[in-house]
Amino acid sequence: MLMKHRSSAWFGPRDRDGFIHRSWMKNQGLPDDLFDGRPVIGICNTWSELTPCNAHFRDLAEHVRRGVYEAGGLPLEFPVMSLGETLMRPTTMLFRNLLSMDVEESIRANPIDGVVLLAGCDKTTPALLMGAASCDLPAIMVSGGPMLNGKFRGQDIGSGTDVWKFSEAVRCGTMSECEFKEAEGCMNRSAGHCMTMGTASTMASVVEALGVALPTNAAIPAVDSRRYKLAHVAGRRIVEMVREDLRLSKFLTRPAFENAIRVVGAIGGSTNAVIHLLAIAGRIGVELTLDDWDRLGRCVPCLVNLMPAGKYLMEDFYYAGGLPAVIRELGDLIHRAVPTVNGKTVGENVSDAPCYNRDIIKPLSDPMKAEGGIVVVRGNLCPDGAIIKPSAATPELMNHRGRAVVFETIEEFHTRIDDPNLDVDESCVLVLKNCGPRGYPGMPEVGNMPLPSKLLNKGITDMVRISDARMSGTAYGTIVLHIVPEAAAGGALAIVQNGDMIELNVAKRKLYLDVSDSEIKRRLEAWKPPAAPSDRGYAKLYYDHVMQADRGADFDFLVGGSGAAVPRESH
Ligand code: FES
Repeated sequence: MLMKHRSSAWFGPRDRDGFIHRSWMKNQGLPDDLFDGRPVIGICNTWSELTPCNAHFRDLAEHVRRGVYEAGGLPLEFPVMSLGETLMRPTTMLFRNLLSMDVEESIRANPIDGVVLLAGCDKTTPALLMGAASCDLPAIMVSGGPMLNGKFRGQDIGSGTDVWKFSEAVRCGTMSECEFKEAEGCMNRSAGHCMTMGTASTMASVVEALGVALPTNAAIPAVDSRRYKLAHVAGRRIVEMVREDLRLSKFLTRPAFENAIRVVGAIGGSTNAVIHLLAIAGRIGVELTLDDWDRLGRCVPCLVNLMPAGKYLMEDFYYAGGLPAVIRELGDLIHRAVPTVNGKTVGENVSDAPCYNRDIIKPLSDPMKAEGGIVVVRGNLCPDGAIIKPSAATPELMNHRGRAVVFETIEEFHTRIDDPNLDVDESCVLVLKNCGPRGYPGMPEVGNMPLPSKLLNKGITDMVRISDARMSGTAYGTIVLHIVPEAAAGGALAIVQNGDMIELNVAKRKLYLDVSDSEIKRRLEAWKPPAAPSDRGYAKLYYDHVMQADRGADFDFLVGGSGAAVPRESH
């Protein structure tokens, strides 16, 4: 017997309401037989000219559409909010949860049986997966793919990573403003998202590792024809998945999340993956904590020689074998029996995965860096945790004690950091407050604070920096992030003063403010919380409901899901 899909609640009835649902759709030229009960596939599109990383998505959607038609489905593309990392203020992270709500409600309210999620720029991937997980229909992610390598004066340059390098070079006089301007046109020279192992590439790898995207999804360049082939095949496959009732919850299991955490370690992935995976897990009912990140990442070396931790870029990574080669290399560190959307297990998908370049994808026996995972530190400064990415840090600074130089806000930081009279040397610890979820609001990527010019001029390239902010996945340095509780929520970070001594010991998982408990208590009693950012609108909703970074900075009322039961009729 043919399975009745949820879309038949709209298109099936022969009555007045069925007439309305079909008749208006027919204004798009759709013939009668497309409403015969076949699976209706939503193509959830984050295309926008304001999101340059996703600006090729109308093309990508066309290839998904071909596959859906071929397999006997009806594709219907729909737009959702798009989040462009480079333009949106105050930060795209403020809107990740809003996009997830847009996705969830758009899917549930419409005659959709399965969905292909088109995502690329950083926050679009987690937001789409969070929203779809709360509906729990069959879904496949198709990433937009990375840009081709940047090329500047004969050198490969990476989006993000080389921006930070070049701007520091200009500040300390080793690069001219003219060269800086020229580099602007050489960095991002094709369709696609950042081609370093930043957040977009990390999250594209995460969805492949979770098994909710097809193998090789992570690395195929956006302009490579094989990206379009993958979109086409995803279109075919989602129709079969609807017929097989393969919902997201069949794939998003605890072992799948454990695989993803280990893959993030092996690729030297972005710290942002921590916050996003915690939020996705919360939507699908998988208990995942910061401690899982530390425990599972502990034995995973970084295998991939990509910026910001290494020297190559995503295009090179694809030609070297891409993510399947990495997963294969991880061997028993991966749960191989985890199912994936192509109908095979993770192990089956990678059993013959070739590696064509051992300088880009290193063997487990001779890794790029011994420690690839994310380390969780705790202490009186961050009782609920903070994170650091050892593969991007300076080994000598990972056990360090230094004097705090404190900035109450990011604006104060910008005003003072290049002041020649700033009382700072390379042994100090830069402390930035009020940049967490509630504090900014939205937890921006400002944790990779630029170093003071006067130290850059001395040739200093790294210092210990701590904050409740996030940092760009393309950034690097000995940087402690996501301090919980954040300063604006009354965490001890709020009362750190210039001159306090701070100790970081990554091996011992410790971040410690060397101030007595009684003095911390006294300062906290005198502390006044910053004013709420707004008394209305989305900013108020966000401020009132956002959880701390250790809970993925999701909204408290969005945890879990509401399924995809057909809502009551609209007429
Ligand atoms: Fe979109 Fe980096 S700015 S992925």
